[in-house]
Amino acid sequence: MADVRVLVQQISAKYGNKRTSLLPILQDIIKEKNYLTSEAMTEVARALDISAAEVYGTASFYSFLETKADGKNKIYICKSITCDMKDKNKIIEAAERTLKIKLGETTPDKQFSLFETNCLGLCDVGPAMLINDDYYTKLTPLKIQTIIGDITRRK
Ligand code: FES
Repeated sequence: MADVRVLVQQISAKYGNKRTSLLPILQDIIKEKNYLTSEAMTEVARALDISAAEVYGTASFYSFLETKADGKNKIYICKSITCDMKDKNKIIEAAERTLKIKLGETTPDKQFSLFETNCLGLCDVGPAMLINDDYYTKLTPLKIQTIIGDITRRK
């Protein structure tokens, strides 16, 4: 618990102890620890002087704020209304075809996990997705294949 408290204090010092820092703080904790523990979320609530419910609410709204470990590359395709209207289903199908897995699954080599997420705030350039820390926009089925191929070659 003590090292989680120190980690949260260091990260919140970097972003400032304000409510708007919540998302980057949670993302940095995941970078360090691979996933969010309830202890870490409690410490974040304490550091920002907000309720634990607010931290849990944010963590559960954004599925890319993982509360468990998954594949090395975590793909989150936006499922919200604007991306939905811009054919996000074709994007998901292309990702599933390319990776040979379904939503919610991880490839057998543990290189990729595939998820949907709520609005990433990139609606004007959707369909959008997040892979680890990188955002990708104006997606097409072909672009998905290229992006996944590039990441596979880099490993
Ligand atoms: S609806 Fe997809 S980024 Fe906002």
